[in-house]
Amino acid sequence: MKYPALRAATVACLAVATLTTQAAEPKSGAAEKLYQANCAACHGVKMEGAVGPSLGDHAWLHGAPTKANLIKIISKGVPEKDMPAWSPALSASQIAMLADLIAANAAATGSGAAKPAVALTPEARAQRDVPDLSGFKLPKGFHIGVYANQVSAARSLAVSDSGIVYVGSRKAGKVYALVPRADKQTADVVTVAEGLENPIGVTLLNGALYVGEISRVIRFDNIDKRYAQKPSYEVVKVSLPNDKWHGEKVIKAGPDGKLYIPVGAPCNVCDVEDTKSAKIYRMNADGSQLEEYARGVRNTVGFAFHPVTKVLWFTDNGRDEMGDNTPSCELNVAPKAGLHFGFPYCHGGVVPDPVFAKGRSCEEFEPPVAKLGPHVAPLGLTFYTGKQFPEAYRNNVYVAEHGSWNRTTKSGYSVRLITLYNSKVVTDTAFIDGFLRGEEVVGRPVDVATLPDGSMIVSDDYGGRVYRVTYDEK
Ligand code: HEC
Repeated sequence: MKYPALRAATVACLAVATLTTQAAEPKSGAAEKLYQANCAACHGVKMEGAVGPSLGDHAWLHGAPTKANLIKIISKGVPEKDMPAWSPALSASQIAMLADLIAANAAATGSGAAKPAVALTPEARAQRDVPDLSGFKLPKGFHIGVYANQVSAARSLAVSDSGIVYVGSRKAGKVYALVPRADKQTADVVTVAEGLENPIGVTLLNGALYVGEISRVIRFDNIDKRYAQKPSYEVVKVSLPNDKWHGEKVIKAGPDGKLYIPVGAPCNVCDVEDTKSAKIYRMNADGSQLEEYARGVRNTVGFAFHPVTKVLWFTDNGRDEMGDNTPSCELNVAPKAGLHFGFPYCHGGVVPDPVFAKGRSCEEFEPPVAKLGPHVAPLGLTFYTGKQFPEAYRNNVYVAEHGSWNRTTKSGYSVRLITLYNSKVVTDTAFIDGFLRGEEVVGRPVDVATLPDGSMIVSDDYGGRVYRVTYDEK
């Protein structure tokens, strides 16, 4: 069994959850809760897929999504492929409820039911699904538009000097190039590569595009000249853990010409101090001289280097299952190698872990420079160094908060502006709100970057698009 600690925790939680929810709620509500508590981390909050496959419209790996088939696969799992067997943890009636829920989702998304008579073209469907732009809230003078649609599962962003934006993805398995159209307000989407394993990380170094997949790093040389030709790539020789849980690899070129890569903890919370997990590494561009840079990092999915001090800043996602309001997700700074950021002993700089803290104190570890709030899921960040935004907005940090997946009241779903004075955090306010409208999610921000004209772009893996923010006083 791959995640013994996690499985035990999940089972313990469930015992409580089922007692409190089953009596009072309609069946579908209870099934939904079971799904969110046990399955969403791998299959996505909306069954759209993450580390595990989509449970909607897709090519089913284990036969048609009939109730009987689903019960079989959920009960037995596919342990060698990281799908746990659930019969030890869930009762037969709970598994049957989940099977009903997934069968209904499969039918609703088209893989079980007949297809609609008039199929929209993908472009038309993407256009139709763009949320009402007036529902976004930005400070005065800022405007938001769609820069590119149909960037399925858009994750990390890397902008080349010529203004081409490279975009990683997750389950889509694709890397895209967004090529500015003549109007410069929108971009065409070109698929650079496909069939990759959750290639969320992208970065540019010496004219090459580096892509982080779960189990390897690949390099496309001279990418700006070759993106449209389904370019070949080289595999960079480097050996890092390839667990699927938190195993996706952001990658970023540092000002020192090295590549920085994190390896998340393969669990919600577990002690992996003596393994290669829960660390940030750096290495030469060819993969040589791999060294640990920071430890005690649960799951960072975004980092950036301060434009003046060149210091590494990174977000970290706090652990789950300690309730809605603790611990806080973190914004951290690592001015030198060898610092410890607390995981799994101390969370958010101040919360000792109920199981792992034994004999350790939060004072031993580097505290975050900002506590971003519980479950907000901070991912990408950037320092805005463009000239288009007013002075007060420059050289500050912008953090994409993907939003909570299991909090009672959703939080995050926003791009935050963290202002700095001499590298000290001063304020944390909303820069773009409106990805969450009441209880309706219209987008989930993943990464932020600046275009050569000083406008800012934001990727959204939920809507599968990239937004662009401009400033013009009006
Ligand atoms: C640790 C990650 C993880 C968790 C948690 C998880 N799954 Fe899975 N699941 C997977 C993976 C990976 C696969 C694909 C297995 C394969 O390649 O055969 C999968 C496959 C499946 C399939 C088959 C899909 C198909 O295409 O045939 C179903 C149904 C499913 N899971 C349901 C569930 C349910 C219900 C839960 C919660 C009770 C759950 N899973 C929890 C990782 C997970």
